[in-house]
Amino acid sequence: MYYVFILGTAGSGKTTLTKNLQDYLLDQEMDTAIINLDPAVEQLPYTPDFDVRDYVDAYEVMQNYHLGPNSSLIASIDLILTRAAEIKSEIDQIEANYVLVDTPGQIELFAYRETGKLISQLIRGSNKALGLFLLDSFLAKEARSFVSLLLLSSSIKFRLDLPIINVLNKVDLLTKKELEQILAWGENTENLIDELGRVDEYSLELVNLLIESLSSNLIPVSSEEGKGFDELYAEIQRVIAGGEDYL
Ligand code: GTP
Repeated sequence: MYYVFILGTAGSGKTTLTKNLQDYLLDQEMDTAIINLDPAVEQLPYTPDFDVRDYVDAYEVMQNYHLGPNSSLIASIDLILTRAAEIKSEIDQIEANYVLVDTPGQIELFAYRETGKLISQLIRGSNKALGLFLLDSFLAKEARSFVSLLLLSSSIKFRLDLPIINVLNKVDLLTKKELEQILAWGENTENLIDELGRVDEYSLELVNLLIESLSSNLIPVSSEEGKGFDELYAEIQRVIAGGEDYL
Protein backbone atom coordinates (compact mmCIF):
# COMPACT_ATOMS: atom_id res chain seq x y z
CA MET A 1 0.00 0.00 0.00
CA TYR A 2 1.37 3.42 -0.98
CA TYR A 3 0.36 6.74 0.50
CA VAL A 4 0.34 9.78 -1.77
CA PHE A 5 -0.03 13.12 0.05
CA ILE A 6 -1.46 15.84 -2.19
CA LEU A 7 0.13 19.13 -1.09
CA GLY A 8 0.15 22.68 -2.36
CA THR A 9 -0.81 26.26 -1.66
CA ALA A 10 -4.47 27.24 -1.21
CA GLY A 11 -6.40 26.83 -4.46
CA SER A 12 -3.56 25.03 -6.28
CA GLY A 13 -5.99 22.26 -7.24
CA LYS A 14 -5.36 19.58 -4.57
CA THR A 15 -8.96 18.38 -4.33
CA THR A 16 -9.52 18.34 -8.09
CA LEU A 17 -6.28 16.44 -8.66
CA THR A 18 -7.12 13.96 -5.89
CA LYS A 19 -10.41 13.12 -7.59
CA ASN A 20 -8.99 12.89 -11.10
CA LEU A 21 -5.94 10.92 -10.03
CA GLN A 22 -8.25 8.42 -8.34
CA ASP A 23 -10.29 8.10 -11.57
CA TYR A 24 -7.05 7.61 -13.52
CA LEU A 25 -5.70 4.95 -11.13
CA LEU A 26 -9.03 3.11 -11.13
CA ASP A 27 -8.79 3.01 -14.95
CA GLN A 28 -5.36 1.38 -14.47
CA GLU A 29 -7.12 -1.21 -12.29
CA MET A 30 -5.42 0.07 -9.16
CA ASP A 31 -7.53 -0.02 -6.02
CA THR A 32 -7.48 3.55 -4.78
CA ALA A 33 -8.83 5.06 -1.58
CA ILE A 34 -9.04 8.71 -0.55
CA ILE A 35 -8.49 10.29 2.83
CA ASN A 36 -9.80 13.81 3.30
CA LEU A 37 -7.68 15.61 5.91
CA ASP A 38 -9.22 19.05 5.39
CA PRO A 39 -11.51 19.83 8.35
CA ALA A 40 -12.75 23.03 6.67
CA VAL A 41 -13.77 21.82 3.21
CA GLU A 42 -17.47 22.26 2.47
CA GLN A 43 -17.98 20.13 -0.61
CA LEU A 44 -15.93 17.33 -2.10
CA PRO A 45 -16.14 16.05 -5.68
CA TYR A 46 -15.26 12.51 -4.47
CA THR A 47 -16.53 10.17 -1.76
CA PRO A 48 -13.75 9.86 0.82
CA ASP A 49 -12.99 6.48 2.40
CA PHE A 50 -11.95 8.41 5.48
CA ASP A 51 -13.17 11.93 6.25
CA VAL A 52 -11.56 13.90 9.06
CA ARG A 53 -14.73 16.00 9.32
CA ASP A 54 -16.37 12.98 10.96
CA TYR A 55 -14.05 13.71 13.90
CA VAL A 56 -13.32 17.43 13.73
CA ASP A 57 -15.30 20.05 11.82
CA ALA A 58 -13.61 23.45 11.56
CA TYR A 59 -16.98 25.21 11.36
CA GLU A 60 -18.17 23.61 14.63
CA VAL A 61 -14.81 24.39 16.27
CA MET A 62 -15.26 28.03 15.23
CA GLN A 63 -18.74 28.14 16.84
CA ASN A 64 -17.94 26.13 19.97
CA TYR A 65 -14.70 27.89 20.86
CA HIS A 66 -15.66 31.35 19.51
CA LEU A 67 -12.68 31.44 17.16
CA GLY A 68 -11.99 33.19 13.88
CA PRO A 69 -11.56 31.19 10.66
CA ASN A 70 -7.75 30.88 10.87
CA SER A 71 -7.50 30.04 14.55
CA SER A 72 -10.35 27.54 14.21
CA LEU A 73 -8.36 25.79 11.48
CA ILE A 74 -5.26 25.68 13.67
CA ALA A 75 -7.32 24.35 16.59
CA SER A 76 -9.04 21.80 14.32
CA ILE A 77 -5.77 20.39 13.08
CA ASP A 78 -4.46 20.17 16.64
CA LEU A 79 -7.74 18.56 17.78
CA ILE A 80 -7.35 15.79 15.20
CA LEU A 81 -4.60 14.31 17.36
CA THR A 82 -6.90 14.01 20.38
CA ARG A 83 -8.81 11.37 18.36
CA ALA A 84 -5.65 9.66 17.09
CA ALA A 85 -6.48 6.14 18.28
CA GLU A 86 -9.98 6.10 16.72
CA ILE A 87 -8.69 7.68 13.52
CA LYS A 88 -5.88 5.16 13.23
CA SER A 89 -8.18 2.20 13.73
CA GLU A 90 -10.57 3.51 11.03
CA ILE A 91 -7.72 4.15 8.60
CA ASP A 92 -6.27 0.70 9.26
CA GLN A 93 -9.45 -0.78 7.74
CA ILE A 94 -8.66 0.78 4.36
CA GLU A 95 -7.44 -1.67 1.76
CA ALA A 96 -6.08 -0.24 -1.47
CA ASN A 97 -2.99 -0.13 -3.67
CA TYR A 98 -2.87 3.64 -3.40
CA VAL A 99 -4.22 5.86 -0.67
CA LEU A 100 -4.50 9.49 -1.78
CA VAL A 101 -4.45 12.00 1.06
CA ASP A 102 -6.10 15.36 0.30
CA THR A 103 -4.50 17.83 2.71
CA PRO A 104 -5.89 21.08 4.22
CA GLY A 105 -6.17 24.20 2.05
CA GLN A 106 -3.61 26.26 3.97
CA ILE A 107 -0.44 24.25 3.61
CA GLU A 108 1.41 26.19 6.31
CA LEU A 109 -1.10 25.07 8.94
CA PHE A 110 -0.55 21.45 8.03
CA ALA A 111 3.12 21.32 7.11
CA TYR A 112 4.64 23.75 9.58
CA ARG A 113 2.87 22.69 12.75
CA GLU A 114 4.15 19.69 14.66
CA THR A 115 0.67 18.15 14.56
CA GLY A 116 0.67 18.08 10.74
CA LYS A 117 3.81 15.98 10.70
CA LEU A 118 2.51 13.71 13.47
CA ILE A 119 -0.79 13.22 11.62
CA SER A 120 0.96 12.32 8.38
CA GLN A 121 3.12 9.79 10.27
CA LEU A 122 0.10 8.40 12.09
CA ILE A 123 -1.79 7.90 8.84
CA ARG A 124 0.90 6.28 6.75
CA GLY A 125 2.25 4.04 9.55
CA SER A 126 5.06 1.94 8.13
CA ASN A 127 3.78 2.20 4.52
CA LYS A 128 5.80 3.86 1.78
CA ALA A 129 4.71 7.41 1.13
CA LEU A 130 5.47 10.36 -1.09
CA GLY A 131 4.09 13.84 -1.64
CA LEU A 132 2.86 15.58 -4.78
CA PHE A 133 3.53 19.30 -4.45
CA LEU A 134 1.26 21.25 -6.79
CA LEU A 135 2.58 24.43 -8.37
CA ASP A 136 -0.26 26.53 -9.73
CA SER A 137 0.71 27.38 -13.33
CA PHE A 138 -0.95 30.73 -13.06
CA LEU A 139 1.58 31.70 -10.35
CA ALA A 140 4.53 29.66 -11.66
CA LYS A 141 4.70 31.50 -14.99
CA GLU A 142 6.40 34.41 -13.23
CA ALA A 143 10.07 33.52 -12.58
CA ARG A 144 10.28 34.77 -8.98
CA SER A 145 7.03 33.01 -8.06
CA PHE A 146 8.35 29.84 -9.72
CA VAL A 147 11.47 29.95 -7.53
CA SER A 148 9.43 30.80 -4.42
CA LEU A 149 7.12 27.82 -5.03
CA LEU A 150 10.12 25.51 -5.43
CA LEU A 151 11.53 26.85 -2.16
CA LEU A 152 8.21 26.11 -0.49
CA SER A 153 8.24 22.63 -1.97
CA SER A 154 11.79 21.99 -0.65
CA SER A 155 10.84 23.29 2.74
CA ILE A 156 7.83 20.97 2.88
CA LYS A 157 9.93 18.01 1.74
CA PHE A 158 12.30 18.80 4.59
CA ARG A 159 9.51 19.38 7.10
CA LEU A 160 7.46 16.28 6.34
CA ASP A 161 10.47 14.12 5.49
CA LEU A 162 8.83 12.76 2.36
CA PRO A 163 10.08 12.32 -1.22
CA ILE A 164 8.31 14.98 -3.28
CA ILE A 165 7.26 15.13 -6.93
CA ASN A 166 6.67 18.68 -8.15
CA VAL A 167 3.53 18.85 -10.26
CA LEU A 168 2.98 21.86 -12.49
CA ASN A 169 -0.81 21.88 -12.29
CA LYS A 170 -3.42 23.73 -14.40
CA VAL A 171 -1.19 23.79 -17.50
CA ASP A 172 -4.33 24.37 -19.58
CA LEU A 173 -4.07 27.97 -18.35
CA LEU A 174 -0.70 28.39 -20.10
CA THR A 175 0.14 29.11 -23.71
CA LYS A 176 2.46 26.58 -25.37
CA LYS A 177 5.27 29.12 -25.12
CA GLU A 178 4.72 29.76 -21.41
CA LEU A 179 4.72 26.03 -20.67
CA GLU A 180 7.94 25.50 -22.64
CA GLN A 181 9.54 28.36 -20.76
CA ILE A 182 8.66 27.00 -17.30
CA LEU A 183 9.92 23.54 -18.25
CA ALA A 184 13.14 25.11 -19.56
CA TRP A 185 13.60 26.95 -16.24
CA GLY A 186 13.35 23.58 -14.50
CA GLU A 187 16.08 22.14 -16.70
CA ASN A 188 18.56 24.93 -17.08
CA THR A 189 19.46 27.52 -14.47
CA GLU A 190 20.84 29.93 -17.09
CA ASN A 191 17.41 30.51 -18.61
CA LEU A 192 15.94 31.09 -15.22
CA ILE A 193 18.70 33.43 -14.03
CA ASP A 194 18.29 35.51 -17.21
CA GLU A 195 14.61 35.85 -16.48
CA LEU A 196 15.13 36.72 -12.81
CA GLY A 197 17.25 39.73 -13.70
CA ARG A 198 19.41 41.08 -10.86
CA VAL A 199 19.90 38.55 -8.04
CA ASP A 200 22.32 38.67 -5.11
CA GLU A 201 24.98 35.99 -4.70
CA TYR A 202 23.13 34.11 -1.99
CA SER A 203 19.95 33.85 -4.09
CA LEU A 204 21.99 32.81 -7.11
CA GLU A 205 23.50 29.89 -5.19
CA LEU A 206 20.09 28.97 -3.84
CA VAL A 207 18.51 28.96 -7.32
CA ASN A 208 21.36 26.81 -8.68
CA LEU A 209 20.92 24.31 -5.86
CA LEU A 210 17.15 24.24 -6.26
CA ILE A 211 17.27 23.52 -9.98
CA GLU A 212 20.04 20.95 -9.55
CA SER A 213 18.04 19.04 -6.95
CA LEU A 214 14.88 19.23 -9.07
CA SER A 215 16.38 16.67 -11.50
CA SER A 216 13.62 15.71 -13.94
CA ASN A 217 10.63 15.65 -11.68
CA LEU A 218 8.56 18.66 -12.69
CA ILE A 219 5.49 17.07 -14.22
CA PRO A 220 3.02 19.19 -16.24
CA VAL A 221 -0.58 18.23 -15.55
CA SER A 222 -4.04 19.60 -16.16
CA SER A 223 -6.34 17.95 -13.64
CA GLU A 224 -9.32 19.58 -15.24
CA GLU A 225 -8.52 18.32 -18.77
CA GLY A 226 -7.11 15.00 -17.51
CA LYS A 227 -3.72 15.64 -19.14
CA GLY A 228 -0.32 14.47 -17.91
CA PHE A 229 -1.55 11.62 -15.72
CA ASP A 230 0.47 8.95 -17.61
CA GLU A 231 3.68 10.88 -16.89
CA LEU A 232 2.64 11.58 -13.31
CA TYR A 233 1.85 7.92 -12.64
CA ALA A 234 5.18 6.85 -14.18
CA GLU A 235 7.00 9.32 -11.89
CA ILE A 236 5.09 8.06 -8.84
CA GLN A 237 6.15 4.52 -9.70
CA ARG A 238 9.73 5.65 -10.28
CA VAL A 239 9.89 7.35 -6.87
CA ILE A 240 8.30 4.40 -5.12
CA ALA A 241 10.74 1.99 -6.79
CA GLY A 242 13.64 4.33 -5.93
CA GLY A 243 12.70 4.15 -2.24
CA GLU A 244 15.28 5.62 0.09
CA ASP A 245 17.28 7.16 -2.79
CA TYR A 246 14.62 9.82 -3.10
CA LEU A 247 14.40 10.69 0.57
P1 GTP B 1 -8.27 24.51 -1.20
O1 GTP B 1 -8.19 23.18 -0.49
O2 GTP B 1 -9.59 25.20 -1.01
O3 GTP B 1 -7.12 25.39 -0.90
O4 GTP B 1 -8.20 24.25 -2.77
P2 GTP B 1 -7.50 23.07 -3.57
O5 GTP B 1 -6.03 23.22 -3.57
O6 GTP B 1 -8.06 21.76 -3.09
O7 GTP B 1 -8.00 23.40 -5.04
P3 GTP B 1 -9.33 22.93 -5.78
O8 GTP B 1 -9.20 21.55 -6.32
O9 GTP B 1 -10.49 23.23 -4.92
O10 GTP B 1 -9.27 23.90 -7.05
C1 GTP B 1 -9.25 25.31 -6.90
C2 GTP B 1 -9.76 25.92 -8.20
O11 GTP B 1 -8.87 25.60 -9.27
C3 GTP B 1 -11.13 25.37 -8.62
O12 GTP B 1 -11.87 26.43 -9.17
C4 GTP B 1 -10.80 24.33 -9.68
O13 GTP B 1 -11.84 24.17 -10.62
C5 GTP B 1 -9.58 24.97 -10.33
N1 GTP B 1 -8.70 23.94 -10.93
C6 GTP B 1 -8.22 22.81 -10.37
N2 GTP B 1 -7.46 22.13 -11.24
C7 GTP B 1 -7.46 22.84 -12.40
C8 GTP B 1 -6.85 22.66 -13.69
O14 GTP B 1 -6.14 21.68 -13.98
N3 GTP B 1 -7.08 23.64 -14.61
C9 GTP B 1 -7.84 24.75 -14.34
N4 GTP B 1 -8.00 25.64 -15.31
N5 GTP B 1 -8.42 24.94 -13.15
C10 GTP B 1 -8.24 24.01 -12.20
